[in-house]
Amino acid sequence: MTQITITTPDDWHLHFRDGDMLNETVPATARCFQRAVAMPNLVPPVTTADMVSEYKQRILAARPKDSTFEPVMTLFLTNNTSCQDIIDAKAAGALAAKLYPAGATTNSDAAVSALDGMFPVFEEMQKQGMLLLIHGEMTAHHIDIFDREKEFIDQNMTRIVSAFPHLKVVFEHITTKEAVEFVLAAGDNVAATITPQHLLLNRNDLLVGGVRPHYYCLPVLKRNIHQQALRSVVATGSKKFFLGTDSAPHEKDKKENACGCAGCYSAWSAIELYTQVFDELGALDKLEGFASHNGADFYGLPRNSTSITLVKEDWVIPAEVTLPNGNPIVPFFGGETCAWKIKD
Ligand code: NCD
Ligand code: ZN
Repeated sequence: MTQITITTPDDWHLHFRDGDMLNETVPATARCFQRAVAMPNLVPPVTTADMVSEYKQRILAARPKDSTFEPVMTLFLTNNTSCQDIIDAKAAGALAAKLYPAGATTNSDAAVSALDGMFPVFEEMQKQGMLLLIHGEMTAHHIDIFDREKEFIDQNMTRIVSAFPHLKVVFEHITTKEAVEFVLAAGDNVAATITPQHLLLNRNDLLVGGVRPHYYCLPVLKRNIHQQALRSVVATGSKKFFLGTDSAPHEKDKKENACGCAGCYSAWSAIELYTQVFDELGALDKLEGFASHNGADFYGLPRNSTSITLVKEDWVIPAEVTLPNGNPIVPFFGGETCAWKIKD
């Protein structure tokens, strides 16, 4: 196949950031995605209904002229989040709340350190029909970084899911075969997003022959058997897995640094790279479910009514993009050739 037309896709997990940066990130995503779930890990984080509404307005204001792109808003959970905060955020249009274990990733210091204290909040979310999005990694210093997702499943994910059988839970940016197995074995109320980098790469790509800071993200890339498990499961067409780029921009000098930031800025090439992966897998017929149907169905939103077409044609992803503040950023796979392209 050299051309494929699919329902316009949505991105169920990304980081737009704020301020000037929105003028870069929102158009980059709106070029091919109809909706995107906007992560709330701003500085300060989006912890109240008012902050949700205000952030939504800032994102909408950064849309290209005539764009019908719509952000899907989320609330950042802390140990101080109350049931009333959930009710108010829902009323303000937040469809989901994000659970970050404190210190798990970029701008998550204010997040949840005492998980058990959150159970009444999860109960309220279940009642309100609000989705729980989970960054599933343990953060205790002694736990090896490559085991943090598996440990989270054993210590936390299992008990959250069994305590709230009607709460919709998205296990975000899964990276391991244990996570694939967990999601497959769980009820219909549990699903997962998968990023392009975790389908395309494993930890050798990050570390062999030199450290590649632009491949560094959290959860960190795992060994190849885990990459294979992710590739295999998307090729089955299971409805429990859907597109979430985790596009997470950091300026070039923050990535190419003695203490480099975690995050891959994939908005400029994500749908093309996912298409390349599905083509490599001989599973192009499963791309539309993953990219355009499964996420909307799980969130209980209508599928999009428009479409996009991709053609099999080599192009080189820009090696650098200039941000509105004048600083450079290196897009994910910058300078590399991608085998699929959006048709103009
Ligand atoms: C994300 C970011 O930069 O905000 N970084 C990342 O490596 N994925 C946060 C996150 O999703 O963990
Ligand atoms: Zn993320």
